[in-house]
Amino acid sequence: FAPKLLAGQRVLITAGPTFEAIDPVRGITNLSSGKMGFAVARAARQAGAEVTLVAGPVHLPTPRGVRRIDVRSARNMLQAVEGQAQNASIFIATAAVADWRPANAAEQKIKKDGSGEMPALAFVENPDILATVAQSERARAGQLYCVGFAAESENLLDHASAKRVRKGVPLLVGNIGPATFGQDDNALLLVDAQGHRELARASKAELGRQLVAEIARRLREAPAP
Ligand code: C5P
Repeated sequence: FAPKLLAGQRVLITAGPTFEAIDPVRGITNLSSGKMGFAVARAARQAGAEVTLVAGPVHLPTPRGVRRIDVRSARNMLQAVEGQAQNASIFIATAAVADWRPANAAEQKIKKDGSGEMPALAFVENPDILATVAQSERARAGQLYCVGFAAESENLLDHASAKRVRKGVPLLVGNIGPATFGQDDNALLLVDAQGHRELARASKAELGRQLVAEIARRLREAPAP
């Protein structure tokens, strides 16, 4: 991977799941391992970029030369991202952010009360980090290139195309099933305004490098205004 395809670029990446507290000892999360995002971070660094990785709770070593910010909830992740996005030229959202969080996390551990009744949890929607960044002034001015991911269980091309438009990003990357959570390989579907192409099944490390090359090519072909 010789060419420094992203030299001079500052890349901000989200990775992993988020954890949404129910009480001090419990919460809601998902099975994202963070491996794809960490692979993209490593590849971007190897391509010469300055890389900041905002990671939810994962069990992965920090790629060499990458600055890492650990967060827990979606709101923590948004705050970290908003603090960094001003300095970034590329934003890649690979995190599997919880769509909802418990409306009011209890301050003390919720106890069984002997009634046999389960406590009811109310939920509120989490902020959409990718959509928020994609709508920012710098993104709309073409100074921050935004890339989203999608994990769908059916009709990947249709859903990914619709998601690309809905989130307002130039490039949306679909995980081609079956579910890749925790796996070391993956296959990707890249959807942009021109159409789509597939990156064949390979290790996440290899796909990270290919994705970095695809992003670098798009930036070269459509330089910021
Ligand atoms: O809407 P959906 O969750 O399928 O969108 C997936 C894409 O949006 C991913 O890039 C994910 O990182 C990002 N996302 C986000 N904040 C959310 C939900 C999703 O950044 N609250």
